[in-house]
Amino acid sequence: MEQFLAADAIVIGAPVYNFTIPSQLKAWIDRITVAGKTFTYTANGPQGLAGGKEVVVAVARGGVRAPDASGEFGEPYLKFLFAFLGIDNVRFVRAEGLAISPQQRAASLSAARAAIADRSALAA
Ligand SMILES: Cc1cc2nc3c(=O)[nH]c(=O)nc-3n(C[C@H](O)[C@H](O)[C@H](O)COP(=O)(O)O)c2cc1C
Repeated sequence: MEQFLAADAIVIGAPVYNFTIPSQLKAWIDRITVAGKTFTYTANGPQGLAGGKEVVVAVARGGVRAPDASGEFGEPYLKFLFAFLGIDNVRFVRAEGLAISPQQRAASLSAARAAIADRSALAA
């Protein structure tokens, strides 16, 4: 939690496991989401205390997210969680369809690497 608070930038690897984040990532979130440290409760509702950071989430999927994003809870959860902690600068780089075919996997990883190289291509 102290490391998290001290960091200017956070990079998270988030493979999609059963429509959401892996339990290992959830365990880390449970360690950094601490009342009185990274957020506080006020009379006007909760307030994040961990603002001023940049978060980049590298998302990997075996499949491809539906266009309406139904049945996908990882990315919206991470956005909500970091906003709760006071961090609005959260961007995503996605490698999808990794289990569809070797060709799809190679193309998707290549596109993700290109998006990382061109930081402006990272999705909000
Ligand atoms: C337990 C488990 C659950 C998974 N659930 C999903 C899922 O719900 N949707 C999806 O697109 N991929 C799913 N996958 C595939 C992973 O997202 C994929 O393995 C991950 O992105 C890493 O890619 P790689 O295994 O090819 O390195 C799952 C993988 C595992 C091991």
